[in-house]
Amino acid sequence: MAKLTIHDLDVRGKRVLVRVDYNVPMEEKDGRMAINDATRIQATLPTLDLLIRGGARIILAAHLGRPKGKPEPSMSLRPVAARLADLLARPVAFVDDCIGEKAENTAAALKDGDLLLLENVRYYKEEEANDPAFAGKLAALAEVYVNDAFGTAHRAHASTEGVARIIAARGGLCAAGLLMQKELKFLGEELDRPGRPFVVILGGAKVSDKIKVIDRLLDRADALLVGGAMTYTFALAQGKKVGKSLVEPDAIGVAKAALEKAQARGVRFLLPVDNVVAQPQKTEKLDKKGKPVMAWVGPHSIDGTDIPEHEAGLDIGPQTILRYTEAIRGAKTILWNGPMGMFEDPRFAEGTFAVARAVAEATQKGGATSIIGGGDSVKALNKSGLADQVTFASTGGGASLEFLEGQELPGVAALTNK
Ligand code: 3PG
Ligand code: MG
Repeated sequence: MAKLTIHDLDVRGKRVLVRVDYNVPMEEKDGRMAINDATRIQATLPTLDLLIRGGARIILAAHLGRPKGKPEPSMSLRPVAARLADLLARPVAFVDDCIGEKAENTAAALKDGDLLLLENVRYYKEEEANDPAFAGKLAALAEVYVNDAFGTAHRAHASTEGVARIIAARGGLCAAGLLMQKELKFLGEELDRPGRPFVVILGGAKVSDKIKVIDRLLDRADALLVGGAMTYTFALAQGKKVGKSLVEPDAIGVAKAALEKAQARGVRFLLPVDNVVAQPQKTEKLDKKGKPVMAWVGPHSIDGTDIPEHEAGLDIGPQTILRYTEAIRGAKTILWNGPMGMFEDPRFAEGTFAVARAVAEATQKGGATSIIGGGDSVKALNKSGLADQVTFASTGGGASLEFLEGQELPGVAALTNK
């Protein structure tokens, strides 16, 4: 790796500011906020263990949700401090601010191996603005900076970027944590030199979200398997009927270009040969955006690629599952990003879970290296109970996508070169 990692640091007796991604899903239970899924907290334990054993005085900075620059009690990190203390089986101090006197005094009083978690950095609008004065106040807390927040590394914020620049300018070292290192290894190096065949499975709603990733992966993959609503934009590009499926007419051009590139490069480009469809029906309920929640009536699978006029495609069908499973079985490297259908609804989850099973089996029995690109696919993988049977599941959503697109992540760029 081109950047310093925590293996390169001598942290004994030093105050180390560690940016972590503790943006975990929370839910109100009995009038209190409770953590729904602690994967992102667990994922930082190797870094914290190493720093504790090394005698660092650890100051953790993180964000939770999008509080828009002011304190929002439902987005406090206090419950995260309690969970982290449980997981580490040692105390984790908490202060209800991330800068200022209280944070400074508590940080200054830390002993070797002690931990402190600061309150949500996004309680200040200066965080997302990457305000230098605010970054300076964070920098005042520590001598060394470690970034283990891969999931937030695509943001050039004060706690992910600005603070590293300031500490580096003072001559302090800025290093990648072990989780960051692992993410960059699997989503980067492993895919630069994949074992072959290299099979990519892409899903999700929009072609436009994934087009840069598709384009880049078409340079390396042997096969690309497509599912999710983006299927129907490709179908539209091929002149097929899509009924009431979610499509992006504006993305037909890029979809066509991707199909042509695949052909020119000899990449197998698999699209569904059958689909699970249902009829949309508006309900009285409104979603978060104020749009009516849809009921999907009469789900059934249909052969062929044309969707009837009054129905929408919501999952890949059984023939497609067989074809995709077969392609995954022979793979030596697998990258999976995006669900195959609307898996939140069990009636449209089979395609996604079948892919999860196939990926797990190719890993366990076939010796494939399998990398799951974060976000919804990891959610689906966890739901299927197969998370421990793949090689690596990213903790990043947007960050993994941007990294797979080949973009430099600001949170990584700001770290000290080796
Ligand atoms: C995430 O969960 O996507 C990261 O923690 C970054 O959060 P953000 O999308 O609100 O910047
Ligand atoms: Mg995000």
